[in-house]
Amino acid sequence: MNKAQQARNNAYAPYSRFKVGAALKLSLGKIVIGSNQENAAYPSGLCAERVAVYSAGANYPDQTITTLAITVKAESREVKEAIAPCGACRQSLAEYEQKQKSPIAIYFMGETDEIIKVASVMDLLPLGFDTKYL
Ligand code: THU
Repeated sequence: MNKAQQARNNAYAPYSRFKVGAALKLSLGKIVIGSNQENAAYPSGLCAERVAVYSAGANYPDQTITTLAITVKAESREVKEAIAPCGACRQSLAEYEQKQKSPIAIYFMGETDEIIKVASVMDLLPLGFDTKYL
């Protein structure tokens, strides 16, 4: 979570002014970070979690992701409630759980206060669509 807080500083969020940081831990101990990167053409931007997981996939394709930490910082207020990843990020993360055949534990928080932990992406995405349907 400390790494996610650092990663949050690298967010490029001039439109939402809502910075998100993500840090993934790999099985060999390496940490891969991501932050949200926005774009004037709004849908072209990408969430912190996907920046991180695609970076891990691209740079360390054979390593297992064990843990993901997520934190946010909004310009408009102090976010005290834990903020869970969006649906598109859940879907993207689920793909990597399936690829590596082991769960990714997720810790998520706001800026301060509580942290929520789930043991697997599947806890956040029941009845999801995946490769077995293709
Ligand atoms: N955002 C994330 O980075 N992760 C999420 O799970 C939800 C939303 C970003 C996208 C956008 O840059 C900003 O937060 C506001 O939606």
